Amino acid sequence: MRTLLFALLLFPLALGSAAAQTGNAQAGKTLWEGPATQCRNCHGQNGEGAFGPDLAGRRLTVAQFRHAVRQPWGIMPAYIESQISDSEIADLVAYFSSLPAAEKPGSWRFEVPQGAPRGQEVALATIGCAQCHGPILNGPRANAGAVGADFRWFQTMVYEHAKVMPAHWKLLGEQPAVRVRMGTYSRSRIPEATLMEIFNWAKDIGFRADIQGRLGAGVGGADGVTYTLTVENIGLQGRGLAAEDLTVNLVVPAGANVVKTTGANYKGVSQDAELKGNVAVWQLNRLAPKEKQTYTLTLSRAGTASDNVRGAVRWTKPAVKTGPSDAANIAPAPLAPATQ
Ligand code: HEC
Ligand code: HEC
Repeated sequence: MRTLLFALLLFPLALGSAAAQTGNAQAGKTLWEGPATQCRNCHGQNGEGAFGPDLAGRRLTVAQFRHAVRQPWGIMPAYIESQISDSEIADLVAYFSSLPAAEKPGSWRFEVPQGAPRGQEVALATIGCAQCHGPILNGPRANAGAVGADFRWFQTMVYEHAKVMPAHWKLLGEQPAVRVRMGTYSRSRIPEATLMEIFNWAKDIGFRADIQGRLGAGVGGADGVTYTLTVENIGLQGRGLAAEDLTVNLVVPAGANVVKTTGANYKGVSQDAELKGNVAVWQLNRLAPKEKQTYTLTLSRAGTASDNVRGAVRWTKPAVKTGPSDAANIAPAPLAPATQ
């Protein structure tokens, strides 16, 4: 009787720690490749190594792996439980243990371009911010433009990231991502002076107006399929940047014709090299923070899975040093069940 009681008492404990130690390799693979983490930008698509060390086939223990994620010893940012849980860490360990070790480390996602300014070199190579954000930090520059950022804002976003990011999404009225995917950086490892070099360079090439284009699913009607596009400046009133001289483009899939459009300043259909095809074009003088414009495009037939409607909004002011104009992609319209 006493041993039974003892066993009953111990059982949940034993079960709990076993679950924490032995992860599920398939779940680990799904997590690694999915939208909830971005570790692969630094560690490689299959953990083969890139800017960060290789993880595949290294046979790190759960304790070693967890320590590296919660209290990184170098330049990697730290991740808290809500960003990646202990049991998910065990899943990743199981996944990487199921893979063979990489013969040689993979290449970086983005190399430092020839003659890169100092701040860009720091972002790409010294710290690695740009391994996730891309070589010219488009996302942070747009968010900085949306709030009229100063260095104080930038610091908070980096040194207190997991804590402050949800409030930032709320402030801009943005749908939060699956999770907060960037880790939190340590002041002692990434000193303020180093961060300042990145900030100054990002400001020098120019903060961006935060323009977003949202395309709804096609709706079938008597004269064709109608797509509704909303172009919005999500910046804060009185603080965010306005965009000027905008061009709104929506791809007209091969074989489809424009039956009808709504929205001011429609310029007709022309060829677009970047979007690789015919596009319907509208022009707009200015879009200030919190302003939005709605456009509709009615096509003679529905886009199919392979040539679905998508597009881009481009603007020339504020001018950025990275090219003649700035742009925001318009993601493909979700396929309406009726047209699939
Ligand atoms: C900015 C690039 C970057 C990102 C993003 C990143 N890491 Fe790392 N990781 C590194 C670097 C660099 C190291 C080497 C130690 C250091 O500098 O902190 C490292 C070390 C590790 C280690 C220890 C490896 C060893 O050899 O002992 C593990 C485990 C690890 N990272 C897992 C993760 C996981 C899981 C994530 C996502 C939740 C992640 N990393 C995100 C760059 C990154
Ligand atoms: C693991 C990839 C990754 C790395 C490395 C990374 N970021 Fe981020 N960062 C993100 C993502 C994703 C977001 C959006 C919020 C989120 O999910 O965390 C973000 C958000 C931000 C924001 C808030 C505004 C915005 O763009 O949403 C700033 C500012 C920022 N990052 C700057 C930096 C800087 C500076 C570094 C290097 C010190 C850095 N990031 C490193 C992925 C990364």
